[in-house]
Amino acid sequence: TARTKVKQALETGKAGSTILVKGWARTIRNSKGVTFISLNDGSCLSGIQVVVEPDLGNFEEITGIGTGSALAVTGLLQESPAAGQALELKAQQLEVVGGADQEYPMQKKRHTFEYLRTIAHLRVRSNTFGAVFRVRSALAQEVHRFFAERGFLYVHTPIITANDCEGAGELFRVTTLDLAQPPLVEGAIDFSRDFFATATGLTVSGQLEGELFAQAFSDIYTFGPTFRAENSNTARHAAEFWMIEPEMAFADLADDADLAEAFFKRLCRFALDNCGEDMNFFNTQIDKGLIQRIEAVAQASFARMDYGEAIERLKKAPVSFQFPVEWGLDLQSEHERYLTEQVVGGPVFILNYPKDIKAFYMRQNDDGRTVAAMDLLVPKVGEIIGGSQREERLELLEQRMLETGIAPESLSWYLDTRRWGSTPHAGFGLGFERLIMYLTGMENIRDVIPFPRTPRHAEF
Ligand code: 4AD
Ligand code: MG
Repeated sequence: TARTKVKQALETGKAGSTILVKGWARTIRNSKGVTFISLNDGSCLSGIQVVVEPDLGNFEEITGIGTGSALAVTGLLQESPAAGQALELKAQQLEVVGGADQEYPMQKKRHTFEYLRTIAHLRVRSNTFGAVFRVRSALAQEVHRFFAERGFLYVHTPIITANDCEGAGELFRVTTLDLAQPPLVEGAIDFSRDFFATATGLTVSGQLEGELFAQAFSDIYTFGPTFRAENSNTARHAAEFWMIEPEMAFADLADDADLAEAFFKRLCRFALDNCGEDMNFFNTQIDKGLIQRIEAVAQASFARMDYGEAIERLKKAPVSFQFPVEWGLDLQSEHERYLTEQVVGGPVFILNYPKDIKAFYMRQNDDGRTVAAMDLLVPKVGEIIGGSQREERLELLEQRMLETGIAPESLSWYLDTRRWGSTPHAGFGLGFERLIMYLTGMENIRDVIPFPRTPRHAEF
């Protein structure tokens, strides 16, 4: 017989039928001579209860196996007398595919997320991380459906690049590395190992290349890994994360915010409608009220507020902030939380930031001091989307590059699109991990990415 996934067995299996399931034992317990195994294959949260009676041929072998063992069970699906499950599997044949000894680091007791981070290779077998990575996978697929339905071209922008899109000097440099031949001086970087003639780094954003494609395909998006060598040890920053970046030609800032709002709400709706079992788990175990909050957001009309107004609101706040609030300064996460949680009570777009705190490519507004930028802030997570209308006017763009210390010659290919057939255009970047944090209630970015790259976690 072919292997049946646990999810399928529980949802559509018929009592009385014989099936084969394969997976890993999450818990094993013995009661009155009968062994009960919770078998998980990652297809759903709950796993299936396998009942092993003493008359099974290799019963002795089975009573000795440890949590974490890989098993193949052929058995009879039957109605379960236990509460909370409709069906269980009575083992007729049980093969220990790969045993596990008693040292298995993930026993039944609750482990802290900190501890589980040190065993990122095993934590994926736990219920919390199973749920996180099922939701993550389902949402990634929905991202593609959303853009495909709207006729956006999916473009793979380069990982190795010579441009620093955000101008923050946070590129990881790319050199060749021979782990067997470390540099002569410990800790020294040998730049003679630069792979290309010019220095290159890992991309901080696919936007600039995405803009080039938008000037040919009208509507495009990227979805790929992004790297930032910012040494910020926060729960919202990772050195490697995934970003979704749509870009639209013939579009302005309002079009950009409309797309961001539709996109974000669609992903909320999708998680509620299609990841029910896992979302219920998060709602009860991780963040009470999560489902209600996301349900409200999926139906809301998002507030839009000028940066200037946001500053006024923060100045009037009856609380004292750690960081100063002043026109011209960037918003810190305490300010973002106050605006979303206290002022608006939900997501809010902040528009038209001072040009001096934003990247060179953003379109200058007529007031001479702001740019057509937009950030979407959400409760708990803070900034989840950053975007803008781009400067499409060659002279203004060149002038802004000079002001910010970027040599126009170094981005001549980028400027070419402003020479030949320039259009108003706009786009944004959604941090995929921050989205997953928002939708699951998980509070640390290290717990929503399979193998976190943060200053203290890169061993895998
Ligand atoms: O605001 P950012 O830096 O914008 C850009 O990179 C633009 N080029 C996007 C565009 O217009 N095409 O980053 C966009 C989003 C942030 O709002 C945040 O959600 C996420 O990317 N992000 C990070 N996520 C995890 N760890 C980090 N270190 C992040 N830096 C940004
Ligand atoms: Mg930003």
